[in-house]
Amino acid sequence: MSSPGSLVLGIETSCDDTAVALVDVHGAVISACVASQAELHTSYGGVYPELASRAHIDKILPTVRTVLSQGDVDPRGLAAIGVTRGPGLIGSLMVGLSTACGLGHGWGVPVVGVNHLRGHLRSADLEESRVKYPAIVLLVSGGHTQLARLQSPSDLQLIGSTVDDSVGEAYDKVARMMGLGYPGGPIIDRLAAGGTPCVQFPRPMYGRGFGLDFSFSGLKTAVRRYLDDHPEAGQADVAAAFVDAVLQVLVYKCRAALQEFPAASLVVVGGVAASPQLRAAAAELCDDLGVQLCLPPLKWSTDNGAMIGLATWDYLALGIACTLDAVPGLGMESF
Ligand code: KG4
Ligand code: ZN
Repeated sequence: MSSPGSLVLGIETSCDDTAVALVDVHGAVISACVASQAELHTSYGGVYPELASRAHIDKILPTVRTVLSQGDVDPRGLAAIGVTRGPGLIGSLMVGLSTACGLGHGWGVPVVGVNHLRGHLRSADLEESRVKYPAIVLLVSGGHTQLARLQSPSDLQLIGSTVDDSVGEAYDKVARMMGLGYPGGPIIDRLAAGGTPCVQFPRPMYGRGFGLDFSFSGLKTAVRRYLDDHPEAGQADVAAAFVDAVLQVLVYKCRAALQEFPAASLVVVGGVAASPQLRAAAAELCDDLGVQLCLPPLKWSTDNGAMIGLATWDYLALGIACTLDAVPGLGMESF
């Protein structure tokens, strides 16, 4: 039985996964559970916010109970409960926050509101410590596409961001156009692996002069037009052309960031970091530049409670008593 004082309970409900985990200060995951809502949203081709909130309400206490019993832990001695306070869907965030506050009050345990994006950043140090500083981090998720410099786990400076859609959103929307279900990332990746690019889609904001910012909405529109104009095109080949365009942009921007801000490691996190194609492309880039690549284990790439738990330890070490209000548009640089 682990000593509860050495553990944080991480709770994540910002989008469509009800995720809870027990994590120690080194990022060891004692137990974890994710109740996925993917099936609930698949017919909508994206997350249906009201359904997401209701599913969180149904799933959160059973998920907490599972994690505590698997970890064989008495929650009254936990070091803290860390819970996502933003960014995310307001209803989903509220379920996590109010549950965490109730549990913390009942157990006599402090509750810390955590930035979901800082959770993703820390996912690369789960199970073992990987990140070497200074680092450049590429965060590619359903809601965000950002580049940042990291001097330490919590010292962060944003250096690039999408001006419109995120990469994950582009994957999800392209999958929806093709009638492939949600989430689109894994489906598109699998299709693309068996296809050959049938067209050269535009590489948005590619090249000098665009800095480190991204844009993906034009690419999504280009795919839509191509599908309209070429109903005979094979889905796998269109998926391959789309993935090619995305990867070329992501790798180009990471290379530019590493050239502008020399770093010991490149950290790639967020749901899209589960993409085997992106993992391979990032590995090739890092080999080329002699930089260490740090990736979260696959299961910690998409939303999970463990990353929130590990980020909570940073907040505790810094003495950051973050507020417990839900902030749907919380930025990466905030706590
Ligand atoms: O980080 P995440 O779980 O949730 C957010 O914070 O948004 O990211 C979800 C996104 C979705 O857009 C999903 O399609 C994408 O990550 N994703 C992938 C893969 N697995 C999930 N994208 C590409 N390849 C994957 N294997
Ligand atoms: Zn996320």
